[in-house]
Amino acid sequence: MIMSTMSNNLKDSENLQLQLHYSSWTITKLMTSFFLLISLSYFFYSLGFLTHSYNNNCAQKKPYPNYNYPHHPLSTINHNTNTAAPMEKTNISHIVFGIGASSRLWAHRKEFIKLWWRPNETRGNVWLDQQLPNKTTEEEEDNHLLPTLRVSSDVSKLIMKRRNPRGDTTLGVRISRIVSETVRLGNVENVRWFVMGDDDTFFVTENLVKVLQKYDHNQFYYIGTTSESHLQNIHFSYNMAFGGGGFAISYPLAVALERIQDKCLQRYPALFGSDDRIQACMAELGVPLTKEIGFHQFDVYGNLFGLLAAHPITPLVSMHHLDLVEPIFPNVDRVEALQRLIGPMKVDSYGLMQQSICYDKAHHWTISVSWGYAVQIFRGVFLARDMEMPARTFLNWYRRADYTGFPFNTRPFKRHVCQKPFVFYLSAYDGVVNETLTEYIRVQPNPDCRWKMPDPTQVQIVKVIKKPDPHLWDKVPL
Ligand SMILES: *[C@@H]1O[C@H](CO)[C@@H](O)[C@H](O)[C@H]1NC(C)=O
Ligand SMILES: *[C@@H]1O[C@H](CO)[C@@H](O)[C@H](O)[C@H]1NC(C)=O
Ligand SMILES: *[C@@H]1O[C@H](CO)[C@@H](O)[C@H](O)[C@H]1NC(C)=O
Ligand SMILES: *[C@@H]1O[C@H](CO)[C@@H](O)[C@H](O)[C@H]1NC(C)=O
Repeated sequence: MIMSTMSNNLKDSENLQLQLHYSSWTITKLMTSFFLLISLSYFFYSLGFLTHSYNNNCAQKKPYPNYNYPHHPLSTINHNTNTAAPMEKTNISHIVFGIGASSRLWAHRKEFIKLWWRPNETRGNVWLDQQLPNKTTEEEEDNHLLPTLRVSSDVSKLIMKRRNPRGDTTLGVRISRIVSETVRLGNVENVRWFVMGDDDTFFVTENLVKVLQKYDHNQFYYIGTTSESHLQNIHFSYNMAFGGGGFAISYPLAVALERIQDKCLQRYPALFGSDDRIQACMAELGVPLTKEIGFHQFDVYGNLFGLLAAHPITPLVSMHHLDLVEPIFPNVDRVEALQRLIGPMKVDSYGLMQQSICYDKAHHWTISVSWGYAVQIFRGVFLARDMEMPARTFLNWYRRADYTGFPFNTRPFKRHVCQKPFVFYLSAYDGVVNETLTEYIRVQPNPDCRWKMPDPTQVQIVKVIKKPDPHLWDKVPL
């Protein structure tokens, strides 16, 4: 029995144990188990410059009104502003979703929504472009598993007569008005956040709540993230939350947006999407984008594996374009693949897709765990800084763009067949209060490599034992 132990003593350690189970004929020969203390280091993403009071009413803000010298020295200004009673933490009931949908694709897309919608817990509406045909009884039964269906109001008056070179803008205008239409519905008791998404967006609601808990919903906040395509970010904006990845708008900001939106929309006839129209109005309101990199627009083609196996250290909040990319697990359809994530989400949603990297010294293997999704074993020792870069298993939105078309670091999937990882996909999960067990198995053929060094061909199953840390994200600096 070979035992290798490694301990990285970084600031926050999450206990993670890994067992590789060999097929029976090698058990006596080769049974290996190693216990590893893995450390997760944080990305300190700057939320720094969000300030606390936005005064948007420029008309009333005359520069230096009745300016006099201060009547009192500045040092006497009272800084004790934190007198409000501590607020209850944001929970799922404080969020209202607005899902932009197309009636043509509804029968199919609603299956994505059913995966994450929590009846009687999540609040919100799906906004369709037109009334659906009369329902069958089967469809009626679906209704209580889905958000309320509504038809967006007519936007033809808001569409400019001049043709937009990029095509019909009705869709963009309609979807961008979902925020305003949701505010106008009323029934906003206890609403703190409006969260927008598409009918092909998958939300991890618990992680969304976790991320929103970091922010004061009484301030103006516009939270989301940009695209995985540099050119998309240039064509739209690096200051924009891409709509399919989902974005959150705090309640007071949504009210402010509702007041100006229809006028604002008419000032930007040349824009194309709904999300760039929202961003244009945000710019007018003076509200910057607060970037949260757990939202995923996924403007990519091909296989998401590289991105999901090296997710940044932040809760996974959303995934988009699920119809365009390959299913995230092999040999199943797209909905079944996503369904497989529900189990680990229930056990430890904050841990989902969090990456840990460790080494088997005896065999000279590098092991990368994307918790709840996949484990990779590489022959050879790869540096952690390389392992945390997504491998390019996916293509750019502009298919001819190479790696310089991504606004983040990537690495080639493999240069040589022997550097191809042995990939194990989630097959089973279990969890008790302070311990989770996930199992991963190989479903694809082993790489055809003739290197003489030990290879993991005999490894059939990888078991990962991890302690969930519900307070992990509370340590993220604000
Ligand atoms: C959410 O918070 C509110 C307080 O604002 C509380 O009344 C409610 O019970 C909480 N709901 C859940 C599901 O925790
Ligand atoms: C939601 O609530 C209604 C009424 O309170 C109840 O009849 C229904 O069974 C609930 N649905 C689910 C899925 O819990
Ligand atoms: C749909 O149902 C309504 C009443 O429930 C009925 O008046 C209408 O004719 C039906 N439409 C179709 C196309 O069946
Ligand atoms: C899990 O928690 C229980 C009680 O809370 C404790 O007795 C047990 O030792 C814990 N197990 C681990 C592996 O920490």
